[in-house]
Amino acid sequence: MADPKKLFIKTYGCQMNVYDSERMAEAMAPEGYETTEVMEDADLVLLNTCHIREKAGEKLYSDLGRMRSLKVARPEMKIGVAGCIAQAEGAEVMRRMPIVDLVVGPQAYHRLPELARGAGRKVDTDFPTEAKFDLLPERQGRRGPTAFLTVQEGCDKFCAFCVVPYTRGAEMSRPVEGVLAEARGLVERGVREISLLGQNVNAYHGQSDGADVGLAQLIGALAKIDGLERIRYMTSHPNDMEDALIAAHGDQPKLMPYLHLPVQSGSDRILKAMNRKHTAESYLRLIERFRAARPDILVSSDFIVGFPGETDADFEATLALIREVGYGAAYSFKYSPRPGTPAAEKPELPAEVTDARLHALQALITQQQRAAQDAMVGRQTTVLYEKPGRMPGQMVGKSEHLMAVHVAHEGASVGDLVQVRITAASTNSLAAVPLG
Ligand code: SAH
Ligand code: SF4
Ligand code: F3S
Repeated sequence: MADPKKLFIKTYGCQMNVYDSERMAEAMAPEGYETTEVMEDADLVLLNTCHIREKAGEKLYSDLGRMRSLKVARPEMKIGVAGCIAQAEGAEVMRRMPIVDLVVGPQAYHRLPELARGAGRKVDTDFPTEAKFDLLPERQGRRGPTAFLTVQEGCDKFCAFCVVPYTRGAEMSRPVEGVLAEARGLVERGVREISLLGQNVNAYHGQSDGADVGLAQLIGALAKIDGLERIRYMTSHPNDMEDALIAAHGDQPKLMPYLHLPVQSGSDRILKAMNRKHTAESYLRLIERFRAARPDILVSSDFIVGFPGETDADFEATLALIREVGYGAAYSFKYSPRPGTPAAEKPELPAEVTDARLHALQALITQQQRAAQDAMVGRQTTVLYEKPGRMPGQMVGKSEHLMAVHVAHEGASVGDLVQVRITAASTNSLAAVPLG
C-alpha cells in the first residue's frame, strides 16, 4: 500500500468549525489521508476559516502570506481554504492568493475528496441541494470523552452586524435519526458528553417519521442512549426559546445546568438597531424562567460593545442588565463592521470609546465570573476527566457548570465521571477532591 498522505487542518472561529474540521478529516481518510500536527509535512493544508470579525480575516491572509515559501519549497503541496471566508469571498481569496488550490464552502465539504483530486484550482461554494451530513463517512476512530455534534445550521435572523446568514445560509435542521445514529457512534467510540451545536441550536426542528421534533424532545431521545452521561447545547437565540427546553432543565438529569444565551446589548434602542427582535426585559424574563426550572443554572452570553450609535446611556443599560443577570461567564467583542451587512453603512464610534467600554464590561464580567467560581467552593459536583493534569496523579476535566476542575486523583483515567467536592477557586479554574 502507498504511504498515507498527510493532512494538516488549522481551525479558526467557532465550535461549529471545530466540528466541521473533524468531519473534513474523516471525509479525507478514505482518500488515504492521515492528519498531522506539522504543517510542513502536509500534502494538503486546509485552513478552516471564520468571517465573523475583521481580525479573523486578517489572520487568514497573514497565514497564507507565511505559507508562500512552503509552497515554493514543495509545489506539490495543496492548500485549501474552507469555512466562512471561503463562502463569503472565495473568489477574492483565489485572486489575491495564487498559492491557494481550492476553496470549499461550509455546505460543500462533503465534496472535498473530489476537489482535492487531480490538478487545477477549484472553487465549490454551493449551498446544499443534497443533505451534506448523509454523504459524509460515519464518525471514526477512538474518541476522547467529549464531542461536538452539529444538529442545526444556518440563520434566518439577519442581525444588522452579522455575516452568518450569508456564510452559512438559511436555517436547517438535521433529521432526528441521523443525529441519533451519529450520537450512538460517538458513544461507542468512548464519548460520554455531547454538545449539540447550531448557530441557533434552539431553533432545531428535525423530522422523525414525518413528525416534527424540537430540541427538548431531541435531548430526551439522546438521553436514552446508555453510556451518554451529559448533554449540552449551544448557541441559543432568545426568540427561539420554547417552554419544553426550559422545562427540560428541571426534568432531564443528563442535561447540564449551563445556558449560553447571547443578548448582545442591554439597551432596547440598540437591540432594535441590531434587528435582534427581543428586548432587555423579555431576555430577563427568559432567564428568570430558566432559573425557576433549574435554580443553579449558569448563564453566559455574548456582548458587542461600540455598535454604531451606542451612547453612554445605552452602554450603562448593558452594564445594568449584566448586574441584574449575574453571569457565570461571557464573551465580549468590539463591534467590527462586516462587508455586506446593514450596520456596516453606519458611522463607527471612536476607537477609544469602544476600547474603554470593552474594558469596563470585561472587568464587570470577570468580577461576576469570580463570584460564580467562589460560590462553588464546598459544593459537590461531578467532573468528567478530559486529560491528565500537570502534577503527578492529577486529572483535569469540566464540572456540570462547564468550569475547569483540577482533581488530585491517583489511579483515575481520562473518561471517568467522578463525584467530587470543590475545595478552592480562582477566576478560571477550580480545585477538588474525589468523594468516596
Ligand atoms: N447565533 C448566535 C451567535 C453567532 S456569532 C447569536 O445570535 O447569539 C457569535 C458572536 O459573535 C455573536 O453572538 C456576537 O456577539 C459576535 N459577533 C457577530 N458579529 C459581530 C461583529 N460584526 N462584530 C463583533 N462581534 C460580532
Ligand atoms: Fe448572527 Fe444574529 Fe444569526 Fe446569531 S442570530 S448568527 S448574531 S444573524
Ligand atoms: Fe465564524 Fe462562521 Fe463560526 S463566521 S463564528 S466560523 S459560523
